[in-house]
Amino acid sequence: MNGKRFLAAVVLCCFSILGMSACRSQQAGGSDKIYVGVASYNQSDTFISELVGCFEEQLNRLESEKRRTVVTIRDAAGQQRKQNDQVKEMLDAGCNVLCVNLVDRSDPSEIIDLAREHDVPIIFFNREPVAEDLLQWNRLYYVGAYAKESGIMQGELAADLIQEDASIDRNRDGQIQYVVLEGEPGHQDAIIRTENAVDTLKSRGVKLEKLSYGIANWNRAQAQNRMLQMIGQHQNQIELVLANNDDMALGAIEAYEKLNRTEASMPAFLGIDGTDVGLKAVVDLKLDGTVYNDKEGQAEAMAELAVAAVTGTGMDKIKFVNERYIYLPYEKVTKENVREFLAE
Ligand code: BGC
Ligand code: CA
Repeated sequence: MNGKRFLAAVVLCCFSILGMSACRSQQAGGSDKIYVGVASYNQSDTFISELVGCFEEQLNRLESEKRRTVVTIRDAAGQQRKQNDQVKEMLDAGCNVLCVNLVDRSDPSEIIDLAREHDVPIIFFNREPVAEDLLQWNRLYYVGAYAKESGIMQGELAADLIQEDASIDRNRDGQIQYVVLEGEPGHQDAIIRTENAVDTLKSRGVKLEKLSYGIANWNRAQAQNRMLQMIGQHQNQIELVLANNDDMALGAIEAYEKLNRTEASMPAFLGIDGTDVGLKAVVDLKLDGTVYNDKEGQAEAMAELAVAAVTGTGMDKIKFVNERYIYLPYEKVTKENVREFLAE
């Protein structure tokens, strides 16, 4: 182990011990002490790290003289095994509510069993478990958004652009040659967003020709690589890039910038999320539009639910769908309204 890595390991170790004792030392309190254990699938994911940041703010906001909130955050760095261990560690340290962003959304059983043994409720977020899993126990919840809605909105944004600006159909063949950058296979937001964006474009009367697609796992650098490959295959035939999230749309834009393509030979780009960098790209007129994934709303719902689940009060004020689901609406973002989102 080199010096830097050793230091990193020591620092990490100290953090874990601190985090755990933070939970344990306050374990003895009453029901108004909320010890939240957050398990993130990957903190290097732009949207997730912003969402977790909002969640911490929301919990702070709910603090009062009578109510203390303590948050411990663990990053599974994309490994489900690691996440299971982190959840166990947080439960042993005395956390009384868990917020879990599953690595593998089809594999929550071990985490559910652990929480159940400790009688600690779980709020799953962003990566939706299948319904049968959420029915395993009545203290399981989900906070997220409807993937279908974001796909439809992305399709509408693209249709508006194409119908307003004839130059997007650069080769004037009456069809839009497009490519898709997809998120992780198996994620509820990947395939559903793509399908609905494409179906919406078709239903708006836009003739489409799919040239290619690339899986880039929500990741900007991977998207840049995939996009470079697709440009290599199709040169300047690509007229539209539909990306399942902003980071991948930004990676695609970077691929064109790397090749020094002029503005006139660039396709239209659409993302989803409205992350800080995504919104900035809309302001800079690089990204033609995005769909706001309401992280503030999701964070607020998670914080209120966490408090209600621990204290047992306030549950009646929460608007659930199917008793244990909360979905926040998406919103379309264009250069005309982007400033409203920047202010948030
Ligand atoms: C977001 C992506 C993010 C993914 C992580 C999606 O809802 O749009 O940006 O990478 O969730 O699970
Ligand atoms: Ca065309």
